[in-house]
Amino acid sequence: MRVRCVSDLSSVDWRAMKRALVRDRFDNGRTPAELRRSFEASRSVVAYSGDEIVGTARVLTDGVCNAYLVDVWTRSDLRRRGIARKMVRRLCAGLRGQHVYLQAEGDAAKLWRSLGFREQPVGMSRIVGTWLRRRRARRR
Ligand SMILES: CC(C)(COP(=O)(O)OP(=O)(O)OC[C@H]1O[C@@H](n2cnc3c(N)ncnc32)[C@H](O)[C@@H]1OP(=O)(O)O)[C@@H](O)C(=O)NCCC(=O)NCCS
Repeated sequence: MRVRCVSDLSSVDWRAMKRALVRDRFDNGRTPAELRRSFEASRSVVAYSGDEIVGTARVLTDGVCNAYLVDVWTRSDLRRRGIARKMVRRLCAGLRGQHVYLQAEGDAAKLWRSLGFREQPVGMSRIVGTWLRRRRARRR
């Protein structure tokens, strides 16, 4: 199976991305328009198998010293084929000299370590107001 990674977002079908995330139970409540804003405000990679979106990754960076990796996702049935590694390597190639943070969930610590990430002593976070400014906070 050939997976193509694109960083030019001009042809991304944001509704298709939303559908793929919902189907894979990795939807965190953003509408297609909100997904578009998130990805367009970041350096992003979208992975395709044929016409289907099968992976995403994006990084928020100040372009100097700090970057934050988010939305790293590979469609469940295509995991353990190197898709996330390919996406993250591509993003990190543009971050020379920067400290890249990530909040790792799940059991893929081996992936992050193999890509050079190391555990940090403390991670803390908060949501300002409610998630996505919705009336009631949604589950992430
Ligand atoms: C984490 C995630 C992005 C990994 O995607 P992936 O495409 O399967 O990862 P890769 O195939 O590139 O993994 C490369 C290597 O990392 C390690 N790895 C990846 N996922 C792993 C897991 N669940 N458990 C143990 N090792 C794992 C393996 O060493 C793997 O190589 P191998 O299969 O040859 O042993 C994917 O499991 C996912 O989408 N999870 C849900 C979302 C998530 O947790 N995102 C990360 C937080 S931002």
